[in-house]
Amino acid sequence: MREEDIPFVQEIERQSQMTPWSALTYRREIRNRQACRYVVARAESQPPNGRSPHTEYPLLIRMLQRIGLILPTLHPATPIVGYGGIWLNETSGHITTIAVAPAHRRRGVGELILNALIDGAYELHAEYLSLEVRVSNLTAQRLYLKYGFRPVGQRANYYTDNQEDALVMWTDPINTTTYKDRLRELRQQLYERLRQQANQVTAESPRSGPIVG
Ligand SMILES: CC(C)(COP(=O)(O)OP(=O)(O)OC[C@H]1O[C@@H](n2cnc3c(N)ncnc32)[C@H](O)[C@@H]1OP(=O)(O)O)[C@@H](O)C(=O)NCCC(=O)NCCS
Repeated sequence: MREEDIPFVQEIERQSQMTPWSALTYRREIRNRQACRYVVARAESQPPNGRSPHTEYPLLIRMLQRIGLILPTLHPATPIVGYGGIWLNETSGHITTIAVAPAHRRRGVGELILNALIDGAYELHAEYLSLEVRVSNLTAQRLYLKYGFRPVGQRANYYTDNQEDALVMWTDPINTTTYKDRLRELRQQLYERLRQQANQVTAESPRSGPIVG
């Protein structure tokens, strides 16, 4: 995630009805390379007329971005479809946020982002992964369960918008052969799924699947 991505990330955040973060918070997190990793997933696509203002007028766009004048309609040539972040809290890589744009859900993008965050956790020398999730958010919980997170407790009234409780989830140690073998299997399955989807899409139109960067 780069600073110029923040407005697009915030748009997905709004669509996902998550507690919004300020642009300042995102900037602070992105700059904290000692303890944080933030990623976005982009959909490779061509604008309808084959031209994008970002590729045609890169200097102008960069100037507008620098002075904070980003027009929401001027999306990057490869639009952002999801994002996520992780923060090293002592020994644990703590997932701070993750969301996929509603139109791009259920196609493996969330899983792809989670994998990028797990790579970030390894890079930061984390020993475990942890997170909080709304007790009602069974969709996200299923994604986490798939990657070895287990419920270890609850925090009462954790979410200030509706006083909902948070479920606290942790993985087993991630540097064991057991965890790494399971991760490799899951990644192979995900890769196969994304490859098949990309083939299908390519057969239908020139658009293709997501990439994380
Ligand atoms: C949670 C979220 C990121 C998942 O993203 P996604 O791209 O739709 O998920 P994927 O397609 O990668 O699915 C991965 C796994 O998540 C679970 N999952 C995702 N959507 C699901 C759904 N609608 N119902 C049940 N399980 C679901 C499944 O375990 C799925 O694996 P499977 O395909 O083998 O069944 C997305 O739903 C989202 O942005 N939600 C709103 C924001 C949010 O709740 N963030 C979490 C805050 S803690």
